[in-house]
Amino acid sequence: MIILKTREELEKMRRVSRVIGETLEGMEHLMKPGVRTKEIDEFAEDSLRSRGVEPGFKGYRGYPATVCASRNEVVVHGIPSDETLEEGDIISIDVGGLLEGYYGDSARTFPVGKVSPTAARLLDTAREALERGIEQARVGGRLHDISWAIQNCAESENFNVVRDYVGHGIGRSLHEDPQVPNFGQPGSGPRLREGMVLAIEPMLNAGTSEVKLKNDGWAVVTSDGMLSAHFEHTVAITEAGPEVLTRCL
Ligand code: MF3
Ligand code: CO
Repeated sequence: MIILKTREELEKMRRVSRVIGETLEGMEHLMKPGVRTKEIDEFAEDSLRSRGVEPGFKGYRGYPATVCASRNEVVVHGIPSDETLEEGDIISIDVGGLLEGYYGDSARTFPVGKVSPTAARLLDTAREALERGIEQARVGGRLHDISWAIQNCAESENFNVVRDYVGHGIGRSLHEDPQVPNFGQPGSGPRLREGMVLAIEPMLNAGTSEVKLKNDGWAVVTSDGMLSAHFEHTVAITEAGPEVLTRCL
């Protein structure tokens, strides 16, 4: 069942989401060689808590950290550790928060120093795919219009979308209905209505779309070891069009 949010609920979701956007924006200076992914996690936790927001992922199904830090071939759910960033890496940081009973969720992939042309194009395309998806988050459209826009953008650059992990509704729970796949047929899926809030999150692989789970039970990696990028926004569907709640202006 898809839960529609009231005006008051949307206002709360704006507040938590804004802090997440600011947190992602504020960590850019850490994206340099030698920084440990644990330091990024500490920065994010301080940034959220200093604005009254609880980390949204910590403790979720036993997840041990504030952010997911997914380097290079890691698609999502990398656990922050003592591993350090290296020149030429790409690093996806996913941040969730909880305030006044509502969640927000956003991610982006940062380049570390100078990256390869393929890595740069993967990041640009993944960011663009998210924007193309968001554009379809309109009253009267269908859910898979979003999915198709993302898939089409990715595949037009010869990248592949991950199929085993999807976006989701969000609100009082981190994951609500509906699932938001990054592939699908336009004109299909549930009708989009005012008050829906979706976490739209394309995951694009440079090689195969196939992924596998690491032994830690969390980190998802590409099966072929090639690069993966991830961008995510929490988006409300309003009569005035898509409202990106986690955008930091
Ligand atoms: N943004 C991811 C998601 O929506 C983050 C989940 S990490 C977890 O699935 F630890 F909370 F599971
Ligand atoms: Co999410």
